[in-house]
Amino acid sequence: MNTLDALTGLADRAAFREGLRAALQRATRTGTQVALVLVNLDGFQAINDLHGQDSGDALLREMASRVLQLARAGEMAARLGGDEFAIVCEQVTAPAALAALAQRIGLAVQAPVAIDGEKVLVTASIGIATASDVSTAVAGDPGDELLRFAAAAVQVARDAGGNGWRFFDPQLHDRAMQRMDLSHGLQLALERNEMAPRFQPIVDAGSGRIVGAELLLRWFPQQGEVSPAEFIPIAEANGAVIGIGAWVFRQACLAERDWHARWGAKAPYVSVNVSVRQLDDAGLADSFAAILRDTGADPQRLLLEITESMLMDDIVAKLRVLDQLSALGLRMAMDDFGTGYSSLAQLARLPVQVLKIDRSFINDIAESGESRAVVEAIISLGRALGLRLVAEGVETAAQQLELCGYGCDYIQGYYFYRPMPAEQLVAAVDKQAALGELPQPGGLYFLLYVSESVAPLSQRQLDQLLLRTRANNAEAGITGCLLYEDEHFMQILEGERSQVLDTFERIRASKLHARVRVVIEGPARRRVFTHWSMLLPDSTAARRHGPDFRAWQTHPMRFDSLADDARVCYAFITAYVPDVKH
Ligand SMILES: Cc1cc2nc3c(=O)[nH]c(=O)nc-3n(C[C@H](O)[C@H](O)[C@H](O)COP(=O)(O)O)c2cc1C
Repeated sequence: MNTLDALTGLADRAAFREGLRAALQRATRTGTQVALVLVNLDGFQAINDLHGQDSGDALLREMASRVLQLARAGEMAARLGGDEFAIVCEQVTAPAALAALAQRIGLAVQAPVAIDGEKVLVTASIGIATASDVSTAVAGDPGDELLRFAAAAVQVARDAGGNGWRFFDPQLHDRAMQRMDLSHGLQLALERNEMAPRFQPIVDAGSGRIVGAELLLRWFPQQGEVSPAEFIPIAEANGAVIGIGAWVFRQACLAERDWHARWGAKAPYVSVNVSVRQLDDAGLADSFAAILRDTGADPQRLLLEITESMLMDDIVAKLRVLDQLSALGLRMAMDDFGTGYSSLAQLARLPVQVLKIDRSFINDIAESGESRAVVEAIISLGRALGLRLVAEGVETAAQQLELCGYGCDYIQGYYFYRPMPAEQLVAAVDKQAALGELPQPGGLYFLLYVSESVAPLSQRQLDQLLLRTRANNAEAGITGCLLYEDEHFMQILEGERSQVLDTFERIRASKLHARVRVVIEGPARRRVFTHWSMLLPDSTAARRHGPDFRAWQTHPMRFDSLADDARVCYAFITAYVPDVKH
């Protein structure tokens, strides 16, 4: 049955009920959401009385065509009788979309209508109900219920003075209102000077030196700060992100200029986020080129962060824009890496120089073997592609040490610095410059020593010793390797400086050995023995893999003679890495 309303040509009430029932069934099958938008004209009866029924009918026909134009293709628009119209919305994703539709209908209705050569203004009261409102109700046909709820919402809108819209669910209404307020506020935020940049330092994983900073946008409207997680999606939806994005890029360029003037080649680079909507804008590269010219910033010191998931659709067009940006000399980073689905082939095709490992993997890296495996895999993937690696969301010393161990280059997170205003960042870099290139306290450290056991140790005794050391080392974040041969020890310890020194003091005090001699110690850029605890390779088995120089040796090559040359000694013990077994 597909009957039409004779006056307006829209679906009539019977067709509407039928269509609504079918839509509800489809929604149940597909797990999607249906909503009903009900439109009543305010004061229509008065117009009818004043201008006569023919004019009233003409007005209804005009309104019907305006409402129909706003329905999406395939959505049913109906006249239920009198001055009541309805749209059945399917596959609804957010209340804000319904609010936007109601808003558009309200505006369309308000446009003047000529009646008897006179301009007449009409307004509408609009009610919105969603099928999820109904599913919690107990009785009745769901279509009828939905209609009743929408009508109740119309009544609320009318009671509030008409010319407005209401959701049946007051919470949805508040949410949609809030979002529309934010959406409106965002369009004016720059003009009103409500946006401000913050900078979160990015540090070298080994030394803790500031090497860069990510620009993070903050918004302070009158009602108080709104988080980027909330306003960025809205700015993307309403297009404000284009203007805001250009402003943010300009701030990044200004920071780069300023820092370059202060610290020259040692200035931190500036990392800045680019949203998916910006990449859809074919004019993006031109706009950025103009800002670069204008500010005189060095594009090589600017890093654009692009999230992995945004490259999912329309990759060809986005690649074109990315290539244009790259041609300007700008560098690029893949943000939140590991959370999307980009294939290796895709990654290799993108003009990126940096991978940022998503914080979700870093969170439990010290506890979860699975996260460790993912991070290790991402880092070796990045290495293979010649990319620099930045870990985000680092909050503890254990995470930092673990990342150092895997050879992660740079680190960003609360463990080092929170986002801060530009002046604070300048002060932090100045302070660091004043300290010179000295390693920061708390950085990665290593120590290599040799000693002689006071009596020969059996394998059992060695195993027991190892058992005691491993618990402490796991807790203190110490890794390393212990060799025992001809009643001599050689051991390397790696970890946070004070932990390494404390542990070494304990080792030195042990009565199991004597003549403990430090061969070399100092700050380390990376861990060599990346597994926790202490490794005790079977030295004779390990020797079998390497060259055998014994025929040329004039005297047995004991650890204490190797120790005479620190470099040889270091090379000797680190050569055990691939042969090591737990
Ligand atoms: C050759 C050697 C290596 C050791 N390595 C470690 C170590 O890596 N971590 C640790 O906490 N303690 C280490 N220790 C110290 C022992 O765990 C333990 O504290 C020490 O042997 C106890 O002292 P005692 O042997 O005099 O009873 C080591 C001791 C020796 C002799």
